[in-house]
Amino acid sequence: MRTPVCDLFGIEYPIFAFTHCRDVVAAVSRAGGLGVLGAVGFSPDQLEIELNWIDEHIEGKPYGVDTVMPQKAAEVHGANADELIGQIRGMIDEEHWRYVDELMVRFDLPPLPEGTQAGGVIGWAEDVARAHVEIAFAHPIALIANALGSPPHDIVERAHDQGVKVAALAGKPQHAERHVNNGIDLIVAQGYEAGGHTGEIATMVLIPDVVDAVAPTPVLAAGGIGTGRQIAAALALGAQGVWMGSLWLTTAESNSGPAVLQAYLDATAGDTVRSKCFTGKPARMLRNAWTDAWADPAGPGPLGMPLQNILTAEANARIARSGRKDLAFAPVGQIVGRMNQVRSVRDVMYDLVEEYIATVERLDLGVRG
Ligand SMILES: Cc1cc2nc3c(=O)[nH]c(=O)nc-3n(C[C@H](O)[C@H](O)[C@H](O)COP(=O)(O)O)c2cc1C
Repeated sequence: MRTPVCDLFGIEYPIFAFTHCRDVVAAVSRAGGLGVLGAVGFSPDQLEIELNWIDEHIEGKPYGVDTVMPQKAAEVHGANADELIGQIRGMIDEEHWRYVDELMVRFDLPPLPEGTQAGGVIGWAEDVARAHVEIAFAHPIALIANALGSPPHDIVERAHDQGVKVAALAGKPQHAERHVNNGIDLIVAQGYEAGGHTGEIATMVLIPDVVDAVAPTPVLAAGGIGTGRQIAAALALGAQGVWMGSLWLTTAESNSGPAVLQAYLDATAGDTVRSKCFTGKPARMLRNAWTDAWADPAGPGPLGMPLQNILTAEANARIARSGRKDLAFAPVGQIVGRMNQVRSVRDVMYDLVEEYIATVERLDLGVRG
């Protein structure tokens, strides 16, 4: 399984793990892959705490940080979270506020305890994402990645000055070409099957197109990968490694809540949908009554990023508190159909490598036979 990206990062296996959970980051890197912490849901102060924890537990292995700096999103600026949220709330129309209130009544969601503030995700506001990057650069990171576009030029330069590699996600060959022109070192070609924000081209079609478009820049395959056979397929398509997000959500180290964890374990590959209901951009998650309500033509439909998440912040917090599996936000890709057991990261990594080796041997025998 050794490819040039292993040497680039000093890792044993070209398996990159995107996760919001520090324990998974440390466990994957310790098991020979490279853990990448998603920063978007953390305040800058919390990110600092998470990275300090990783530094203490990762045994000197390399890791990365992922930020979300969208190229197309409503511009908001503010000195702190309250100011940003206040600004975003002011941009939301009455019809949408009415609809979300109606949904909280329709789904019988008990109010939050007095004094609890719902907040919402603001990690994709440029000021917050830049604060994340500042904090990340003060830690011994090997990689900085960005979703939804290339990171700004000054950040790419700064990373290179510090010897940090830069990755960016791409859902089309054109995105990947643009990233390479912007100085990105590593392309994550992410197909339609993937969990989280995702485009419309399937992994099987996307990977060779991106590999050919950006050669010799290394490409990692993402979207629908959860077995050693799929890793072998990704390398056969020309990728130098894989970038997986969903599979870690049902590991013992993951911090998925009980209702969401059970929903993942029960779901089949056909149970996901791409919906704008959480972030305002199409993201893959388990389909449920909440995603259906936002796809209902009788409703006003979701707003864009960053408005939609602030609009639904209270409803999301009420859903999370209620523990309702039928409404819970459960971002995941189509590989969820294979995520049927809670296992340790170490066991998952071991199985991936074992099955990869068996697959390559089988193909090799096939050729000789
Ligand atoms: C729960 C979840 C959250 C995600 N959030 C982000 C994110 O904040 N930034 C990002 O670059 N990618 C994010 N992704 C996408 C992953 O980086 C990765 O490309 C994707 O999970 C790969 O496909 P897979 O889910 O089939 O493994 C997320 C994926 C999941 C499942």
